[in-house]
Amino acid sequence: MRLGTVRFSEAVLKEVEALFARYPVKVNALLPLLHMAQRENGGWLQPGWDSYIAELCGTTLNHVRGVITFYNMYRTSAPGKYHIMVCTCLPCGLCGGAEVMEHLEKRLGIHAGETTGDGMFSLEEVQCLAACDQAPLMVVNEDMQKRITLEQIDRWVEDTRAKKA
Ligand code: FES
Repeated sequence: MRLGTVRFSEAVLKEVEALFARYPVKVNALLPLLHMAQRENGGWLQPGWDSYIAELCGTTLNHVRGVITFYNMYRTSAPGKYHIMVCTCLPCGLCGGAEVMEHLEKRLGIHAGETTGDGMFSLEEVQCLAACDQAPLMVVNEDMQKRITLEQIDRWVEDTRAKKA
């Protein structure tokens, strides 16, 4: 196996082998493998991870890049320490999803797709997160905050900023 500028640690490579053992062919593990790569690298896929993962899975770089660019859960730029995803699809939209997004944009002083200057918060507008019955919602890193109110958002932003100070 080629040793490039990026690679999993030996401990994570053991996890990778355990993952491969669950699939008939390695390439079937591509999605969880990309999640692992993001988890190990601050929530995004720095240059080089696509080709490393392609080699691990025995597939082409184009295949991996196609998957990375198809799903918005994979990122090729660094997110904020707190990456916030807000669903504004119709079911969430009817329950206040757009208001949640607008409120966060005002509170954080950024638009969807941007990161605050201090690197604390990044904001992303997403499609259905398969939790329509919990709308409106936001997902912060891996934590889903369901039926969120604008007051709860204010409290969360204040508390999170206070933790940093
Ligand atoms: S439409 Fe928002 S979670 Fe499904």
